[in-house]
Amino acid sequence: MKYFLDSAKLSEIDYAYQNYCIDGVTTNPKHIRQSGTPFLTTVKEIAAWLREKGLEGKECFPVSFEIDPHLQHWEDMVCAAREIAGYSPNYVIKIPCCEQGLIAAKKLEQEGIRTNITLVFSPSQAIPAAKLGAKFVSPFVGWKENSGDTADYIRDIVKIYREHNYQTEIIVAAVRNGKQIGEFAAMGADIVTCGLSVYQESFEHPFTTYGIGVFCEAWDQTVK
Ligand code: E4P
Repeated sequence: MKYFLDSAKLSEIDYAYQNYCIDGVTTNPKHIRQSGTPFLTTVKEIAAWLREKGLEGKECFPVSFEIDPHLQHWEDMVCAAREIAGYSPNYVIKIPCCEQGLIAAKKLEQEGIRTNITLVFSPSQAIPAAKLGAKFVSPFVGWKENSGDTADYIRDIVKIYREHNYQTEIIVAAVRNGKQIGEFAAMGADIVTCGLSVYQESFEHPFTTYGIGVFCEAWDQTVK
């Protein structure tokens, strides 16, 4: 099970890399806004950080950046993706799941630029992502659940991908708590991407806190 950090803040990426064994990073335009750093500066800074950590290379530590979401035609999407991908071999280009986005992603994968089909809310969106050979697909479970739906479609996507031997890796995105991390791992998803605070919370359990208290009391009462 791979853990990706969902953040564009370099300090968080560095912290999670040093301490949480993360395997990659995902960003989106909201994260870029929250980081307070302009988009291209972030793209350049993370590329420099990857070099500094010795992580630079196509097959290790992927970092996803989303193209300008205003773009509506595949030609423009391909141009925007090429520009971002030029900054680091680790960069994977997030393309929204829509007809023009899927056309763009197919062209990009054919020229060796890896893609992450994002904003996926149904198995029928996940299937074409795999058929075109996208590196990743990102179903957004939190957004789906906020709308009153369930995250059960992850189980279906995993099943479909296995039955058809699709190689696209499933990144379960917009994960909100540790319980979900365990559930999606058990369903067979390849990757979860979470914010720093979700990982922090996932390492804790009330029984662990209780147990530490019990053991502290015993420790303090031990004959020294
Ligand atoms: C994943 O790649 C997305 O960046 C992310 O999970 C989006 O969800 P959120 O910003 O609502 O958490």
